[in-house]
Amino acid sequence: METHEITQRFLNYFESEGHTRVPSASLILEDPNLLFVNAGMVQFKPYFLGEVPPPFARATSVQKCVRTGDIDEVGKTTRHNTFFQMAGNFSFGDYFKEGAIERAWKLITSPPSEGGYGLDPDRIWATVYEDDAEAAGLWRRISGLPSERIQSRDMVDNFWSMGIPGPCGPCSEIYYDRGPEYGREGGPVVDEDRYIEIWNLVFMQNIRGAGSGKTDFPILGELPAKNIDTGMGVERVATILQGVENVYETDLVRPVIARAEEFSGHRYGDNHVDDVRFRVIADHARSGMMLIGDGVTPGNDGRGYVLRRLLRRIVRSTRLLGVHEPVLPAFAEIVRDAMGPSYPELVKDFDRINDIMRAEEEAFLSTLTSGSRIFDLAAEETKKTGGLVLPGDQAFQLHDTYGFPIDLTLEMASEQGLSVDEEGFRTLMNEQRQRAKADAATRKTGHGDLSEYRKVLERHGETEFLGYADLQADAKVVALLEDGVPVKSVGEGREAELVLDRTPFYAESGGQIADTGVLVGDGVELKVLDVQKIVPGLFVHRVEVVAGEVGLGTGVTGSVDAHRRLSIERSHSATHLVHAAVRGAYGKRAAQAGSLNSPGRMRFDFTTSGSVSADVLTAVEEEVNDYLQTNVEVQTVVTTKDKALEMGAMALFGEKYGNDVRMVDMGEYSRELCGGTHVDRIGQLGIVKLVSDSSIGSGVHRVEALVGTDALKYVRKEQLLVSQLASTFKVPSDQLPGRIDDVLTRLKNAEKEIEQLRTQQVLGSAGAIADKAQDVNGITLVAEHLGEGIDANGLRALATDIRGRLGSRPGVVALFAPQGDKISFVVATTSAARDKGLAAGKLVPSFAGAIGGRGGGKPDMAQGGGTSPGGAEEAIVSLRAAVAGIG
Ligand code: ALA
Repeated sequence: METHEITQRFLNYFESEGHTRVPSASLILEDPNLLFVNAGMVQFKPYFLGEVPPPFARATSVQKCVRTGDIDEVGKTTRHNTFFQMAGNFSFGDYFKEGAIERAWKLITSPPSEGGYGLDPDRIWATVYEDDAEAAGLWRRISGLPSERIQSRDMVDNFWSMGIPGPCGPCSEIYYDRGPEYGREGGPVVDEDRYIEIWNLVFMQNIRGAGSGKTDFPILGELPAKNIDTGMGVERVATILQGVENVYETDLVRPVIARAEEFSGHRYGDNHVDDVRFRVIADHARSGMMLIGDGVTPGNDGRGYVLRRLLRRIVRSTRLLGVHEPVLPAFAEIVRDAMGPSYPELVKDFDRINDIMRAEEEAFLSTLTSGSRIFDLAAEETKKTGGLVLPGDQAFQLHDTYGFPIDLTLEMASEQGLSVDEEGFRTLMNEQRQRAKADAATRKTGHGDLSEYRKVLERHGETEFLGYADLQADAKVVALLEDGVPVKSVGEGREAELVLDRTPFYAESGGQIADTGVLVGDGVELKVLDVQKIVPGLFVHRVEVVAGEVGLGTGVTGSVDAHRRLSIERSHSATHLVHAAVRGAYGKRAAQAGSLNSPGRMRFDFTTSGSVSADVLTAVEEEVNDYLQTNVEVQTVVTTKDKALEMGAMALFGEKYGNDVRMVDMGEYSRELCGGTHVDRIGQLGIVKLVSDSSIGSGVHRVEALVGTDALKYVRKEQLLVSQLASTFKVPSDQLPGRIDDVLTRLKNAEKEIEQLRTQQVLGSAGAIADKAQDVNGITLVAEHLGEGIDANGLRALATDIRGRLGSRPGVVALFAPQGDKISFVVATTSAARDKGLAAGKLVPSFAGAIGGRGGGKPDMAQGGGTSPGGAEEAIVSLRAAVAGIG
């Protein structure tokens, strides 16, 4: 049974059982503790927690999931995957254990002709949480499983949570026995390779606090209702139903391996080392592509870093299979074709995804190229000194500076008959990791542990945001924290974090920076420095107590700095317009990759393939400014996400929880989902001036613009600069370019002339220098340390001239001249000297050390340079000794 069939059957079955079919959420839901969505229940978390009333009592979904904790294990075994799909059914206070077990049993054991998976009931085992007699009883009654095939397990195995504070509960897992050829008898408690877990039914009824591992956290209490959360491993079920060994051989994964086989000429299954590489490629191609599909772009931290690592591991693995040309676009096509039917966004957005993949691969390949050069040098150096081991610090530098993975270094070293000091490398890596950790710890803003903020949220609910309409409002202080610790009051001169029941202050999000302003109450005055939603829904104001003392329950009037807010709003509205214009110019593949809206200034990042021409940006600027003149009203509508998307709204990635979205319209021109604040009419923007554009790597382009009076100030400053230049150059401003060109040409010519004069002057001194010749054991030696002003060519010309003056005498001419902080030299010999065995090239080593240099050449003339100009006199002494020795 094909994977798509498996997921369709799942959804159809649960739909027929009264469940609402909900599409997979984005992999990057807004949750500060979660890098990527890692389970089907994540998008329903607010319903489980009772924060938002669920719009349906039952739901079903097939969720894309990414778990990257075991990334290094991927491929080495066939069990680890960074990407997988989790099919789930959910009950929010509706059916509980019985309903969940009944339905799961029915779906897996019903014959395929009746819409089921047709698994043999005799091969099914179940586990239950240790004291859950109820679940065990239900299994016996519903499925008829004998008691020995229902095993009890402890909290490590049969208690599920997201690994972070939130909903959790005991669970019951369903296993499939693959048969004696896969391992020992005795059920899942004995052997999880033979008995593979296919489905986890979580009886979601508790809420847990912060802690580590699978058991070390407090249970804080009961959820408002008893719920069901299940997760069926789609790939695992596919493995069984397709009769293959593991997920890598299933219909959606194997094609990527097949493509890698084509590229490399190697065959999957031939040897373990290659197989690991094939599997890394197949796994990472899926997760990498799904992440880009959801808006992640490669970067150096957070999600972007994980993505970069995934993509680079693909390129590296392919390279280790002997393929040197770009491969990611080809793999992307295969993944699109395999996954597209379930995830149409991969097809729709393919150009954009592909652009990012291609750019990242190009960047990495050029890294590899420059790294290879460094590697060659290091290898050569090692061999020259007779060594067989590439030093650890070289391997580390390759890794650290050139992003050179250690196994690539190992492979390349072995090609050259060298090994690598891996221990030295690992020591340095560890030291670096420690440094990075210490760094991260000091940078943490006290928000590492969010449990206190969660408690505030549980106790007081979400902050009511009034700032769309009001810039001033009365509110009550409901929580205060100093350095992350709850306090009852905060005195004058101190800084603290403060939560209000309602607020007019906008918290930073969606690229719009936070409001600032003041909070004033009876005898107390606070300055609002920043506002962040530290946990979703909770507005945390960073405040400084200017006067008095603020305590819990204090009533305050909050006033947003309105001038600043308006200026930020102008920037934000401008960002929407620039976004629309860029899309108009480049099509849908120009997707927003980030933005920043601060007072008077906006920054907008978007993905593109290739370069962005200045003409297009000028056209974008013109179009936006033209449109400003329509002065259309900015309208916001709250609607459902589906409706908004149907109406063509541009949705950004990482949408928030919940179904209701806010849509911001600026006439027909721009329609975006956006939680930010905007001007009333676009005419308020006045003018939008693009001031810089640049590429920030990996196919992402950045434009910056000034808005309103800030744009005007900028233009005025530029104008002033031009008029100052015009007055300096004494021409009208429109003649400035010609005039400056003119002056630069003259300057260049003058410099050339000076250079020539200098050379002539030096050459003119040939006679005088030749006169200083000394006799050294019958050899005429001219050795001179000249001043600045003669380059290598001049030096050679001068030496030739002086040598000519020595006639038929055996003679050596050696000239040294500083070049900035370096020094160059030339040595020339007459033919009579050469007859006596004095070769110029052979003399060089006698003095090169003194000037930190090297060089060489033929018997008649040798040239070179050094890095220590101060050693010239010493070099002359050494040379004289060498000449004396031969003469
Ligand atoms: N949320 C449960 C899991 O991920 C079903 O296993």
